Amino acid sequence: MKMAERQNILAMGLDPAQVISFGGGWVNHAAPDEFQHAYQSIVSDPDLFHKSGGYTATLGDMECREQIARFEAHLFGVPRLGPEHIAIGMGSTQLTHDLFRTLLDPGDTVLLLDPTYANYEGQLAFAVPGVKIVRLRVLDPETWSYLPETDPAGVAREFARLFDAHRPRLVLFGAPDNPTSQVVPQALADVMLAKTADSGAWLAIDFAYKCQYFQTPPAYYAWSPADRPNVVGIHSNSKWARSLGRRLGWIEAAAPVVDALERVQQCSILCPDTLSQMTMARYLQGAIASGSLRTYVDAANALYKNAARVTLDAVDRHLGRPRLTPFGGLYTVVDIGTNADAFVPKALKATGVLVVPGGGFGPSLTNGVRISFGPLVHDTAKIDEGLARLGAWMRSTNP
Ligand SMILES: Cc1ncc(COP(=O)(O)O)c(C=O)c1O
Repeated sequence: MKMAERQNILAMGLDPAQVISFGGGWVNHAAPDEFQHAYQSIVSDPDLFHKSGGYTATLGDMECREQIARFEAHLFGVPRLGPEHIAIGMGSTQLTHDLFRTLLDPGDTVLLLDPTYANYEGQLAFAVPGVKIVRLRVLDPETWSYLPETDPAGVAREFARLFDAHRPRLVLFGAPDNPTSQVVPQALADVMLAKTADSGAWLAIDFAYKCQYFQTPPAYYAWSPADRPNVVGIHSNSKWARSLGRRLGWIEAAAPVVDALERVQQCSILCPDTLSQMTMARYLQGAIASGSLRTYVDAANALYKNAARVTLDAVDRHLGRPRLTPFGGLYTVVDIGTNADAFVPKALKATGVLVVPGGGFGPSLTNGVRISFGPLVHDTAKIDEGLARLGAWMRSTNP
């Protein structure tokens, strides 16, 4: 049974209505009105609705691929991106799996950060028999500092050492990453690019939270596969447009990778969801032309930036423990100074507050928890209340 499940909450003797969860890795702002209108205009038209029930090409509808290229140029200045660089799929989880199948062979080595998104390890084991994983530590558990910022030369050296020792076929990081909400600085991304390009390896960047940034993004947000053919971007509609359940994502890569993905997707999904693609194409065409896409992304960013500020203030005031300042995204990680696997169920039972233990993201977070402000973005008073409850309990029991 999962910790957050109603049955578990009841079994712990808690009232589900009183539980405050910082566990969800999801967003809670509204999708753009024009996006909803685009769905309405398609489903209310008999011919368009009929069309939305047909297959598209395996790599996705050409119009949607073109509009996604315009989206990336419009928001992030990605140059020379065309539909030939884009493979549409059913969200980045499916695409990441298919990408692993496309780029990797059994027994290959992959370099991940420690900590990073917990799903990668399982996805790699599932997709690539005998895969070996090497981790580059980016969080110092002693000082709770993000090493690429506090020790850029040391991390670049360690990356080069690990790369030369293990010869990974793929280097993968998230920008901003889950759970740290930190962004690999440009200088480290440049080192990763140089090393991978030189040795014929791939550099993949998971941009699930690309549109959620609270500071100016680094230059690699505008890297194009037209100029850097070994770089692959993994993208999703889940977080920026609050479309987690309307499954749509895409890969940006050099044309030969997209061609290879076509063969893999023929075996996995046959084609992405047609209604989602028709809507996306229709919405983007209007929203780029009117400027409403930029307005929407800016407004959503302001909302999450505010929720991040409330969260950090509350952590500082009520927990008084080391934490990271998010660059973007939905999370912060807090050092709780004790094993988080044991701490989290005890804290839930005692306070009705749920946080996520850090160990699954990497060994550096064994004594840390992830706090997500995404679900509470419109209910920031609950952020303060939840962290006040947790802090009072931590002070009284010293867990
Ligand atoms: C870093 C990262 N990548 C990918 C995903 C999954 O995204 P999708 O909904 O597109 O499958 C998540 C979800 O939380 C995530 O945190």
